[in-house]
Amino acid sequence: MMNIPLVDLKAQYQPLKQDILSRIEAILDSMYLFLGPNVQALEKEFAAYNNVQHAIGVSEGTTALHLALRACGVKAGDEVITVSHTFIATAEAIVLAGATPVFVDIDPKTYNMDVTQIEARITPRTRAIIPVHLYGQPVDMDPIMGIAQRYNLYVIEDACQAHGARYKGRYTGGLGHMAAYSFYFSKNLGAYGEGGMVTTNDDELARRVRLLRDHGSPKRYYHDMVGLNGRLDEIQAAVLRAKLPHLSDWNAQRRSNAAHYTELLSALPQVQTPYVPDYAEPVFHLYVVRLPERDALLAYLKEQGIGAGIHYPIPCHLQPAFAELGYKPGDLPVTEQVTGEIISLPMYAELTAEQREYVVAAIQRFYARGA
Ligand SMILES: Cc1ncc(COP(=O)(O)O)c(C=O)c1O
Repeated sequence: MMNIPLVDLKAQYQPLKQDILSRIEAILDSMYLFLGPNVQALEKEFAAYNNVQHAIGVSEGTTALHLALRACGVKAGDEVITVSHTFIATAEAIVLAGATPVFVDIDPKTYNMDVTQIEARITPRTRAIIPVHLYGQPVDMDPIMGIAQRYNLYVIEDACQAHGARYKGRYTGGLGHMAAYSFYFSKNLGAYGEGGMVTTNDDELARRVRLLRDHGSPKRYYHDMVGLNGRLDEIQAAVLRAKLPHLSDWNAQRRSNAAHYTELLSALPQVQTPYVPDYAEPVFHLYVVRLPERDALLAYLKEQGIGAGIHYPIPCHLQPAFAELGYKPGDLPVTEQVTGEIISLPMYAELTAEQREYVVAAIQRFYARGA
């Protein structure tokens, strides 16, 4: 039996090990531990990679979203439109900024924000929209930017799963007014602890995030705004700098792995493989398929040594954490149906053809059992 994890961090680390260890050693020798030369260099390199003016390193993706919202002036009493089909941090950041998340449903093909539903949810209190490039698949941004312009709203991309993804040839991270990235260890670009980044082309928004991430402090012990401790540390920045030059190759490998999965799965009519619109060049942070008997299949794959997952089993609007918002089952029918039928198959750059074949063969056997 093979053992195939959802993500294999060891496979990525091995070829980078010496480089990463020597970078960490240099930091410990210097004892320059936060917001130092590595953070500054990473900010420049990440901005250049995404073709955006500013990149500001922060402590994680949740803080990146939170500080982006605050930089845009989002505050108590405001509303922010987003999706319920996302990791909870998207909605959490809105609440942390004092505002109320307003959830719209998703498109049944892309599983991303249904852009046709945004306008109906705009009120005089709406301040911003957060589209989430979920699974590394870019959202259809042009209609969103059009709505934002008409209603004078900010758009903050949740690009936490979309490092290197492109929309109509342009990198995510510079498509809205601001964007938030996570460097959680399993992301396409992952730290060995926590990390995040805010990107923007707006000088003033960048200035505010730089202040907010360090207690609103332009100079030690002088505080212009109430911020927080949201700094990126030097060791994480060094790890990310070692990895960034490989990101495009890893993403290309993920796309090729996804294409192979899709080809193998085409023999199974019950499996709906990821839909990629013409405008999108996704980076397959996750490879998500939709299929019947999801929970039984998940248990079977586990027995077969395959680490599949569900991203995410309960949408935000039905989480107890957001009970106060007053949503109920049936409010977002596409989101609710999709979350009951999706499964994420093992996906990482180093995944071999043999491993992909093993996964698909197991799915095939599962459906053949009932035949
Ligand atoms: C879509 C999305 N938004 C936000 C986050 C939050 O990032 P972090 O875990 O770095 O705080 C994550 C990842 O965990 C994510 O996947």
